[in-house]
Amino acid sequence: MSRVDPPSVVNIADLRLIAKKRLPRVVFDYIDGAADAEWTMRENARVFDDVMFRPRSAVATSNVDLRTTVLGESIELPLILAPVGSSRLFWPRGEEVAARAAGEAGTIYTLSTLSGCPVRDVKAATHGPVWYQLYLVGGRDVALAGIERAKNAGCSALVVTVDTPVAGMRERDVRNGTKELVSGAPFTMLPFVAQFLARPRWLAAFLADGGLMKFANVILKDGPMPYADVAAALEQSMVSWADFQWIRDAWQGPIVVKGVHTADDARQSIDHGAKAVVVSNHGGRQLDGVAPTLCVLPEVLAAVKGEAEVLLDGGIRRGSDVVKALCLGARAVLIGRAHAYGLGAAGGAGVARAIEILRSDIVRTMKLLGCASVRDLDRSFIDIPPAWRNDRFGTPTLDEIDRLRVHGRRPLSQEIIDSARRRDR
Ligand code: FNR
Repeated sequence: MSRVDPPSVVNIADLRLIAKKRLPRVVFDYIDGAADAEWTMRENARVFDDVMFRPRSAVATSNVDLRTTVLGESIELPLILAPVGSSRLFWPRGEEVAARAAGEAGTIYTLSTLSGCPVRDVKAATHGPVWYQLYLVGGRDVALAGIERAKNAGCSALVVTVDTPVAGMRERDVRNGTKELVSGAPFTMLPFVAQFLARPRWLAAFLADGGLMKFANVILKDGPMPYADVAAALEQSMVSWADFQWIRDAWQGPIVVKGVHTADDARQSIDHGAKAVVVSNHGGRQLDGVAPTLCVLPEVLAAVKGEAEVLLDGGIRRGSDVVKALCLGARAVLIGRAHAYGLGAAGGAGVARAIEILRSDIVRTMKLLGCASVRDLDRSFIDIPPAWRNDRFGTPTLDEIDRLRVHGRRPLSQEIIDSARRRDR
């Protein structure tokens, strides 16, 4: 029995606690924290509680099919590993072991530009697809070389993150001395090093893996970019819509825009060539106070009009969260912290366990809902709070209401039907 098996680990929160015990505070808080008051991070997760299921009982669902396709790629379950920078600090060769676990589960790993393992090694570590997430750190020429390496390694999509013109204000990182610790100046570091000594096992593994990682996919004139103040590096390298032209020309493959919060930006993404968008607020790590992603999903879906695939991330901690996001129209979700906690807790075994927890949750939820395939999940399986039934979530059209009746599903409330009639009259 490994330390991530039941009864020690039953859910993602258990993996989080093990990661907390194994990692130095500065590393754990880097994963666990978010911007400012961390309101958006909390709301991302909490808002799933506002959505209630409407199960169909006595429906035979012995085989539940979790397979779906994203950008033409078939995946075994509707979740993808989100880009998580500096994963190599959580576990030796962290990005490779996480990618391997994703591949074994039959899904996609997304490698952050700000990662510690070279893209070709990460791709070689997994049988599954790898997407490459792009930041323009180091400038255009450095990014172009990174795109070329990702292409040569066989990455199948380029994920351009657009919500990071500057790093969010992560208060925990400031308190834990992140900036001082990466300064390399012994006296500056000194007040903060005790947190490493308190985690000797992590420290031994970290040193055996070469100590403080370099950014292996950001190759500057004199080699890989040293681990420096990421906030400053990001500020000098924001991506704007005008950059999409040269990015598209260089990549020549499918582009995913990550960090879409509004209908306008969803349209901009499509106009600039995106084949998919990720409704994402960076897990609440950037602009605190933006709406939780589940709440903006319908607005984005309405704007996209089926012209691009719509993915969502933020706050996914249970398989039922994945199911709710799919019911509201997401094609698949990305998981950030859920897999990062697993990696910090137990490396590849922890990531595999995180995916397995979510997979088995999804299967059970689908059986309890009476739905045999993730492709059949829709709004009829959930109830949203009355306060959400506004312009953003949209009243269903009369056609949609008729369709629900045709399939013998429970009718919607008279209030919704009346409001649809008034609107479509
Ligand atoms: C991230 N995220 C992120 N996103 C990105 O585009 N590039 C990156 O390098 C990172 N780095 C990163 C590090 C850590 C520690 C976390 C937790 C997150 C954001 C990530 O891809 C995703 O949008 C969020 O993590 C989703 O929210 P949840 O699943 O963590 O709640």
